[in-house]
Amino acid sequence: MNVPFYGHVRQYSNIKAEIDAKMNEVLMSGNYVQGPMLKAFEAQAAKYFGSTYAIGVGNGTDALWLCLMALGIGEGDEVITNANTFFATAEAIWIAGATAVLVDCDPKTKCIDPAKMEAAVTPRTKALMPVHLYGQCADMPAIWAIAEKHGLKVIEDNAQAIDGAGDTFKQGERSAAVCTSYIIQKNLGCFGDGGMVFTNCASIDAKIRKLRNHGSTARNVHSFGFNSRLDDLQAGVLSAKMNHITAWTDQRIAWAGAYDKGLQGCKAITLPYRVPGYRHVYHLYVVETLNPAKRDALVDFLVQNGVDAKTHYSIAIHKQEGFPWGKPCRLAGSLANAEHNAACCVSLPMFPELTQEEVDHVIAKVCEWDQANA
Ligand SMILES: Cc1ncc(COP(=O)(O)O)c(C=O)c1O
Repeated sequence: MNVPFYGHVRQYSNIKAEIDAKMNEVLMSGNYVQGPMLKAFEAQAAKYFGSTYAIGVGNGTDALWLCLMALGIGEGDEVITNANTFFATAEAIWIAGATAVLVDCDPKTKCIDPAKMEAAVTPRTKALMPVHLYGQCADMPAIWAIAEKHGLKVIEDNAQAIDGAGDTFKQGERSAAVCTSYIIQKNLGCFGDGGMVFTNCASIDAKIRKLRNHGSTARNVHSFGFNSRLDDLQAGVLSAKMNHITAWTDQRIAWAGAYDKGLQGCKAITLPYRVPGYRHVYHLYVVETLNPAKRDALVDFLVQNGVDAKTHYSIAIHKQEGFPWGKPCRLAGSLANAEHNAACCVSLPMFPELTQEEVDHVIAKVCEWDQANA
């Protein structure tokens, strides 16, 4: 049996009629850029997310740096983020011209450690950019408290956690903005690239709308800007898919529960930790080998046995070749937990359209490897 890592075609097949209808509506409208479908999807997304504004942009990376730019954060300013995240989070800070301050994660949740985040604050710090890694929200109440104490803006990177929530809090409640990615492999993904900024702030909304469209507010009127728009075809795909996101998340949670149960006896790996009461949306189901030297062997064993396992992310940002490429960056103390995570992480297949047989096969193979390596 072969268990794939992604189920893009399965998902499309399941709701093909709904997606095709939306795409056909766009195609026949003749409006493909900043047209009515984008407008409708932005309204739908804002309602779904519970924000006043939702602005469609070209991708999740752009969403992050456009927010920084809209907040006037750039050269000489520090933005604190995770050392263990997809590269784009730090990249967005550099694109905005600011200094990326990389902070260690909590060893259990893998999200940024708020105490270490606060210790990294200096008079140059302007913003906190926590990542809801793997689908679990960072400890936002602690992060908002730090931001309020030090007068900092918060921009949440929820590229991996659309539909996620904390126990007592919602994403974005006390933040300047929440940025997401709609690239195909995300929990809510279009057929290519896309991104969005959710905000309750009218001035961030107005600035990003202008920045994403060549600095334009009216035909032939420009100030400096960029081209970073979510096109109407992708907005149509996302509009159809958004109706299913809650059910898809529930199914991911169910598969995560099956993995938790099937793998609970394993001795050579640890399982992902879910903070009680949080809605962890399991963008990724990431186990860790206790022994970093055995990680690659587990991935190889799984791949050889038909399980398409991957690693997220096996090279921490500050360990990438050539780091920091002349870009302003500060490592805030020890990054040992992030480095351990990079050395030991193994992501198992996780998408709503998995079958019970496939999940059972993954569990059987991980257990087989574990018994031989415990
Ligand atoms: C945590 C995180 N931040 C930012 C991004 C960047 O999004 P995009 O690829 O749409 O630019 C991604 C994913 O791609 C991500 O996983």
